[in-house]
Amino acid sequence: MAEPPLVELDDVSFAYSQGSAWARVRTPVLESFSLQIAPGEMIGLVGESGSGKSTVGKLCLGLMRPESGQVRFTGTPMRRQRPGTLSVVLQHPQTSLNPRLTVERSVAEPLALARADRTGRRERVLQILEQVGLDPSFAQRYPAQLSGGQRQRVSIARALVTEPRFVLFDEAVSALDVSVQAQIINLIRSLQDVHRFGAIFISHDLRATRYVADRIIVLQAGAIVDEGSAHRFYEPAKHEYTRKLQLASDI
Ligand SMILES: Nc1ncnc2c1ncn2[C@@H]1O[C@H](COP(=O)(O)OP(=O)(O)OP(=O)(O)O)[C@@H](O)[C@H]1O
Ligand SMILES: [Mg+2]
Repeated sequence: MAEPPLVELDDVSFAYSQGSAWARVRTPVLESFSLQIAPGEMIGLVGESGSGKSTVGKLCLGLMRPESGQVRFTGTPMRRQRPGTLSVVLQHPQTSLNPRLTVERSVAEPLALARADRTGRRERVLQILEQVGLDPSFAQRYPAQLSGGQRQRVSIARALVTEPRFVLFDEAVSALDVSVQAQIINLIRSLQDVHRFGAIFISHDLRATRYVADRIIVLQAGAIVDEGSAHRFYEPAKHEYTRKLQLASDI
């Protein structure tokens, strides 16, 4: 039998609701939305602000439930996963790291939550720091003593230290300088080669996305309007909206 998708959204509808019971504001975002991510596959999710990219990501992490349809992880309905199985790297490394914890403690925290064996934790932390390009002297620093790019390396180390099966990168490079962006994108690619996690890489920038992703999905107002192998996005797209995104990314 073929291996089931790592993460699957099957005919999912989702709306945010705000306000009180008698004055509820409903914002529908996704309707009959389906997506399959294969084990080890990196999906690029692009589309303008508000198109629903982060919503798709949060549903894939099981952080929210759909109104209808199914979210599955390795073929079974998404439940609370063992800590460390699903990870996320967000845009702002300033706010995603606890300023009071040293790098070592920040990176070790998910191992504690996942109840990893206490012995060997320190070695595991130093090993993942090395893999993200930080030498052992960084272990005792605090976030305030790091550059933006270094903080994002720590966030990535924290996300990967438990060997997750699926990682959401939600605008993980968007707040960085262009040259640092390129370094972090290269890092994500090389880490994915080693760790083989499945992932969604969300970005406004099609240039970055096509470099890191295997397959690209273009979202417009909560619907998939274009989809294909990342190679295809090196050519001017036939689809009008994709072409617009390409031009916005200087392609
Ligand atoms: N917590 C929330 N409550 C109500 N509406 C929300 C909430 N989060 C997002 N939305 C709305 O849902 C829609 C999709 O939002 P989402 O965050 O998924 O977009 P996005 O593609 O990630 O945008 P961006 O590129 O700006 O991050 C938008 O219209 C947004 O205003
Ligand atoms: Mg978003």
